[in-house]
Amino acid sequence: MPDRRSLRSVPGRDPLGSVPDRRTLRSVPDSLPRRTEQDQLPHQGAIKPGALENCRDLWEPYPEKSSGAPERQTPLPRRDAWERPMTHWTDKERFFMKEALRLARRGWGLVSPNPMVGAVLVKRNKILATGWHTGPGFPHAEAVALNAAGKSAKGSELYVTLEPCRHTGRTGPCTDAIVQAGVSKVYYSIPDPNPLAEGGARVLEDSGIETRRGLMAQQAYELNQFFIKWQLTKKPFVILKTAASLDGKIATHSGDSRWISSKVARNYGHHLRAGVDAILIGRATAAKDDPELSARPWGRRKMHREPMRCVLDPSLKLPLELKLFNPSYGGRTTVFCAPEAEPGKAAALKEAGAAVIPVPLRAPGRLSLERVLESLGSMDVQSVLIEPGATTASSTLIDESVVDLIHVFIAPMFLGGDGAPGMLGGEGVDKLADARALDILRVSRKGPDIHIVCRPKGAFVPPPGFLALPEDQTASAEPAEEF
Ligand SMILES: NC(=O)c1ccc[n+]([C@@H]2O[C@H](COP(=O)([O-])OP(=O)(O)OC[C@H]3O[C@@H](n4cnc5c(N)ncnc54)[C@H](OP(=O)(O)O)[C@@H]3O)[C@@H](O)[C@H]2O)c1
Repeated sequence: MPDRRSLRSVPGRDPLGSVPDRRTLRSVPDSLPRRTEQDQLPHQGAIKPGALENCRDLWEPYPEKSSGAPERQTPLPRRDAWERPMTHWTDKERFFMKEALRLARRGWGLVSPNPMVGAVLVKRNKILATGWHTGPGFPHAEAVALNAAGKSAKGSELYVTLEPCRHTGRTGPCTDAIVQAGVSKVYYSIPDPNPLAEGGARVLEDSGIETRRGLMAQQAYELNQFFIKWQLTKKPFVILKTAASLDGKIATHSGDSRWISSKVARNYGHHLRAGVDAILIGRATAAKDDPELSARPWGRRKMHREPMRCVLDPSLKLPLELKLFNPSYGGRTTVFCAPEAEPGKAAALKEAGAAVIPVPLRAPGRLSLERVLESLGSMDVQSVLIEPGATTASSTLIDESVVDLIHVFIAPMFLGGDGAPGMLGGEGVDKLADARALDILRVSRKGPDIHIVCRPKGAFVPPPGFLALPEDQTASAEPAEEF
């Protein structure tokens, strides 16, 4: 029976992974951590039973723990439950992959255009070493863990959230490192969609290393949706974030819109900004609000990398004095305009350091968002956060439906007023049957606000088979779980 005091749920805090001190090496973890439902709304009765099973947000800010703070202990399990398969996988396997996923999340906002990957090396039911990918040009998660473990990696099992690569990119092939280290078995969650890197599992099998695919695949997929969509379609993953009053208004009739959402909700918005490659707004929002479009989660100003700032300005009406065109406020600025926009204005913007990209119009005064996204995809932009006014929201959701995920913050207030803009403007749909249907994925609180995460029907989904288990492994539904 493991010593209760030795049961710690967080591996070493060294961001590049490390071999934990012998005294801190964990024994067999005690049980699957309980799913917390702290995010539930107070009026739980209103939520369908089971809906909160999916109540997880893989992109929540990483819960760093203060050093030395005692961690909550879960009750010790019955030892015989440990190796018993819960579904297709045992508790033990799920536990270690969950650790790898937790580590992978540390790469939020750091790794693009690479994926977030975490790795855990396990020997005799103890974590030997861990690693996570910190960004392009830096070693992959598997290499970090293997380096940290050194010779003791021989005979260990590797849990990694993405299929190990077999190619030489900015770093060498992970498959070579795994074979050379003498790892005996590799668990990986999802295949690598990058045609250059995929096939690592085959290489490992050919070298006599057993591989198992599909452990916590859904979670690993959701963590890297940006990377996967871009690899498979060359278009960015699109998130739309909006805040409204309980009666659906995004501003008052006089145009006052700052701030509808609470500080906690706005912090979450900055956390989203910090994780995406680009932020996109409409011309009217840029003109009225003069936003910086920088990522400032929890007031931190310095990000290692600021997302690209994009604005839809068909006739290039925006004045150069806006913060958007001041490089000291954020990332580089790209203005999308109509092909017939005045060349003199485009030259002035370029002079100020902005890129100006003409795209065709879809309707008078409305740029084709499909073309805007294609253009961003060709610049290796894997994710775009749209912060729309009513006009841009209806363009993206009703007219062109280019959005993959929606974050809505509902503030506990009514604004009223026929002239106050609603969340979506435009003409709207004629009939209820034409409504843009959504799947609600998550409902939680952000301070006083309600935070709804939903997915429009028809948003990007991985191709059939991407999340499936290989034929020789009995497929069974993975229960949704927090980690
Ligand atoms: N609560 C929130 O979450 C939130 C978020 C953002 C903004 N807002 C508020 O929303 C208000 C502005 O919203 P808005 O509806 O007036 O304007 P908007 O959506 O910010 O901008 C619309 C303008 O963008 C240009 N555009 C070019 N292509 C477009 C396309 N395909 N679809 C849509 N627009 C395109 C057009 O400029 P031209 O007119 O030059 O043709 C269009 O008039 C502000 O008061 C702002 O404070 C609230």
